[in-house]
Amino acid sequence: MNHQQYQFQFEVYDSADQLNEQDAALLKQAKETTKLAYAPYSHFHVGAVAVLANGEIIKGTNQENASFPVGICAERVLLSNAAMLYPQVPIETIAISYDNTMGTSNHPISPCGICRQSLLEYEIRVQQPVRLILGGLSGKIYVIPKASSLLPLSFTGADMQ
Ligand code: THU
Repeated sequence: MNHQQYQFQFEVYDSADQLNEQDAALLKQAKETTKLAYAPYSHFHVGAVAVLANGEIIKGTNQENASFPVGICAERVLLSNAAMLYPQVPIETIAISYDNTMGTSNHPISPCGICRQSLLEYEIRVQQPVRLILGGLSGKIYVIPKASSLLPLSFTGADMQ
């Protein structure tokens, strides 16, 4: 028997003022994009904005449904849009923010488990890491260099060979 350890590094910023100009602009767009969410049930409005390797900007917001499991997260709406409009073009960075209209938005949120799996597949598909900028409307900001580092011991197509 031996022990294995998994570690990953990410950056923590106290506020958007500390980000570089491009990252600050992308996070600002993600905050604005929360207004396009359809979240009448959770009142938790998520906005995700990506910059692609070809310079295109792609957005996604959560889209809820009265039949709750039908709803889809902002990240997967974004990934579907990107994959359909620009197949094989890597996503360089995704900024994700949220407006919790019944609560607070003062800390970063991380993609849910299903979205982590989708982000992983995207990285494998285009052979390039997806960088994440995570921040609420205020508070600390996390920059994660590679989305798939959020999903250790993951299941991938390689496991089915
Ligand atoms: N949600 C996202 O869109 N992305 C996340 O990273 C976390 C959660 C959505 C799903 C649902 O519409 C609402 O936020 C509350 O869970």
